[in-house]
Amino acid sequence: VNHLLGIKYLNQKDIELIFETADHFKEVINRSIKKVPTLRDITIANIFFENSTRTKLSFELAEKRLSADVINFSASQSSVKKGETLIDTVNNILSMKVDMVVMRHPNPGAGIFLAKHVNASIINAGDGAHEHPTQALLDSYSIKEKLGTVAGKNVLIVGDILHSRVALSNIFALKLQGANVKVCGPKTLIPKHIESLGVSVETNLFNALQWCDVANMLRIQNERMEVSYFPSTREYTQQFGVNKAILDRLDKQIVIMHPGPINRGVEITSDVADSNQSIILEQVENGVAIRMAVIYLLASKIK
Ligand code: CP
Repeated sequence: VNHLLGIKYLNQKDIELIFETADHFKEVINRSIKKVPTLRDITIANIFFENSTRTKLSFELAEKRLSADVINFSASQSSVKKGETLIDTVNNILSMKVDMVVMRHPNPGAGIFLAKHVNASIINAGDGAHEHPTQALLDSYSIKEKLGTVAGKNVLIVGDILHSRVALSNIFALKLQGANVKVCGPKTLIPKHIESLGVSVETNLFNALQWCDVANMLRIQNERMEVSYFPSTREYTQQFGVNKAILDRLDKQIVIMHPGPINRGVEITSDVADSNQSIILEQVENGVAIRMAVIYLLASKIK
């Protein structure tokens, strides 16, 4: 059975194939025919043990545009609340003849664990602070769409690198495609051995922005912190928040990204998030085509 558990398990050719397939689906979506009959005999379960807006809706839409049958499961309204385990939950869902599971879970490695124990294709829609592969794919795809290529571009990731699955998956994806990657944030929110992934570290936001072609702004993941990692939100914003004033001091116009959800006024001000430098909503738009591509490519192996 084939899975998408993390970018760590992909190579450059896999990413190229996903992007070519996404190009095709984006073209289909942009025509008035929004739906293709490709996966009429496939059933997909979206099981979410953590909150989501973009990923959940975008997977559901991608599945429906491919004509798959879709069931949605939200842990908070399920028998998980009565003590049912992850494996029992998924095996019960699979016994209803489900072919593919899209799962978001708060525990790192939950998708890998599931893939070892159940007989279905698993797509990781975010596992704790580990990986969020489809987010990284749509991020790189959006950079390629905006700048023509990812190779050789300077991509900065700003914020809570330590708790971010988006950061880790982006680092793997960007490095595979030949981008230069730098991270910027408070020292306490940058993993100690991050340089071993081929990434450099800069703690001065202005210097980091001056270096980059693209800045991907991340949210502080308070829900994953047992203690506060920086003095106060106000101090974080002063040192690491992007606003129009700091962008105006740069000698070039950079591309601004954010995976969402945005905490407006904390890591990014509204005038930047909503500016013509921002491709935040293009990222969301591309998420549907990327997820159609991933589902299509995995489903073609189980059919
Ligand atoms: N980017 C992202 O994963 O957003 P959601 O948590 O809303 O799915």
